[in-house]
Amino acid sequence: MKGIVLAGGNGTRLHPLTLSVSKQLMPIYDKPMIYYPLSTLIAAGIHEILIISTPKDLPLFERLLGDGSHWGCVFSYAEQNEPKGLAEAFIIGESFIGSSSVALVLGDNLFHGGKLAQQLAGLNKMDGGHIFAYQVKDPTRYGVVEFDANNRIISLEEKPNNPKSSYAVPGIYFYDNTVVQKARALQPSDRGELEITDINKRYLAEQKLHLSPLETGSAWLDTGTIESLMEASQYVQTLQSRQGVLVGSPEVAAYTSNAISLEQLLALADKLSHTPYGEAIKSLTK
Ligand code: G1P
Repeated sequence: MKGIVLAGGNGTRLHPLTLSVSKQLMPIYDKPMIYYPLSTLIAAGIHEILIISTPKDLPLFERLLGDGSHWGCVFSYAEQNEPKGLAEAFIIGESFIGSSSVALVLGDNLFHGGKLAQQLAGLNKMDGGHIFAYQVKDPTRYGVVEFDANNRIISLEEKPNNPKSSYAVPGIYFYDNTVVQKARALQPSDRGELEITDINKRYLAEQKLHLSPLETGSAWLDTGTIESLMEASQYVQTLQSRQGVLVGSPEVAAYTSNAISLEQLLALADKLSHTPYGEAIKSLTK
């Protein structure tokens, strides 16, 4: 399975912070935002990853992440010229995807905890699509999924005014290869975007859309507003200083998913040894 991180958009809700720098490069406590969704893919064993961003920001992501080889991964890059919707990622990424199945993660979504990596790694052989559900207080901001006691999906709606459930669909999606042709067949929505919810509705119509609530104890944070950005930083700081763990570390994810050896991990930590981040990697290896 291949992976795509979509890190486009203008980040208008975070102006002036994002006037000159991409939202997905903003710090979440001690790391750039994109480290978190990237680590989620890597920890799930997805090591061939396409990063999509705006023409203006893409060089910055390349400078930050390189070709991925230092983390035992293969990164490539592609431009999204205008924010024309999440589903456009599969059209932009068509040749990258080739004949594989593909996971898409949004560059501003932070996942952590529970048995998330195992839950995601179990989705390696896809037939159809797989989405997740996470209970939130304000579902109107998200794609909303209604489902029964057997996790069978009843309805899907994008940002409904009157949500039928309190479960949002987080920004991580797993699809078989038919996602490319499904994306190509989409029409833009009223807001002018190719909607991921419309992709999911097509899988649902084929009775091939599977749903799992995110594992109990796992967290999904989004970082779309200045308040949620701050909360995400506080969440990471609290966990890291209390437990001595590292949340959203691609280095650690690469090691736990066997992309790099312990020696390679220690060498990466050495390069960062003048920082609490490098020290934390080192002490984890003990
Ligand atoms: C997008 C999706 C929405 C999903 C959300 C998760 O919303 O359209 O279905 O629940 O990401 O972050 P957007 O970022 O376009 O507001």
